[in-house]
Amino acid sequence: MKIAIVGTGDVGGNLARIYTRKGHTVTIANSSNSPALHELAKETGATPATVQDVAQGAEVIILSIPENRILDLPKEFLNTIAPGAIVIDTCNYYFFRDGVIEAIEKGLPESRWVEQQIHHPVIKAFNATYWYNLTEEIQSGLSHRFALPISGDDAAAKAIVFQLAAEAGFDPVDAGGLDESWRQQPGSPAYCTDLGVEEMRRALSQATNERTPEFSGIGSSEKELKTAMEMNNEYMQSINKAIQVLVETKQWSVAAAAKGLYSQFKSGKNPGEVLAYVFEHKRLEGNNN
Ligand SMILES: NC(=O)c1ccc[n+]([C@@H]2O[C@H](COP(=O)([O-])OP(=O)(O)OC[C@H]3O[C@@H](n4cnc5c(N)ncnc54)[C@H](OP(=O)(O)O)[C@@H]3O)[C@@H](O)[C@H]2O)c1
Repeated sequence: MKIAIVGTGDVGGNLARIYTRKGHTVTIANSSNSPALHELAKETGATPATVQDVAQGAEVIILSIPENRILDLPKEFLNTIAPGAIVIDTCNYYFFRDGVIEAIEKGLPESRWVEQQIHHPVIKAFNATYWYNLTEEIQSGLSHRFALPISGDDAAAKAIVFQLAAEAGFDPVDAGGLDESWRQQPGSPAYCTDLGVEEMRRALSQATNERTPEFSGIGSSEKELKTAMEMNNEYMQSINKAIQVLVETKQWSVAAAAKGLYSQFKSGKNPGEVLAYVFEHKRLEGNNN
């Protein structure tokens, strides 16, 4: 298939690796036309493009950028897609990264909001699994395939996305229509919890459509919002530094380090404990040399 990927970060970049490996014709774009885009193109055989041109003739368009950056996409970027083309939305909304999007906070499913911005239906997929689960390395160490929730209103389009999810190493699970897609949004039991099919179905059915305080920025003052965004930036920087420390031990790839760190956070450890974990690994590595 002709697949266009907008956003070549952790998620979009690894989807480009997967789908080129599977023999699809892949075109990629990011916002900065950075050297990293061209390196990824060289590595995978994907064709680099501008956002304006990336979707030309594409049968599947994957959006993998921060939610608020959807607003920056050029109005005409879907004008030249193939007839009946499918748009896959991998994006998630976090107010402390994206700023407050009021409609979403008031209950509009995130992917419905995306649809409204791009004026094209979307299928929500790949949003509810950590990026490192898209790597061959991590997948090869798993005892079973993880389930991937997929929601959307067009059954035929969904069937194709099911096929693409399976090609990417997941067991696709139907999470309902897009109005139900809150069941796979951040904070839900289905979100980034590495479940198998039956557990995933249970998690989707147990989800409740309420935005808990940690995912809700509405009503915050500008100052509070600014602080939340700064704290998130610092947090992401410290995670990235911690990943680098683990990578430098030479025992860890970036994907393995990210998986190790995220699983520590999932188990409720605080940043100090995570740092201790990182340096313990560094110390152990030092002892082994
Ligand atoms: N990380 C995860 O584990 C994960 C898992 C599932 C879903 N998600 C969601 O998937 C989306 C992407 O996540 P990520 O972790 O891959 O992000 P990321 O690593 O930060 O990469 C973001 C990518 O989006 C590009 N971008 C930003 N604005 C753009 C624009 N206006 N036009 C074109 N490209 C643009 C960036 O390119 P430039 O650098 O050139 O701007 C970069 O290539 C997010 O919504 C995220 O919440 C993330």
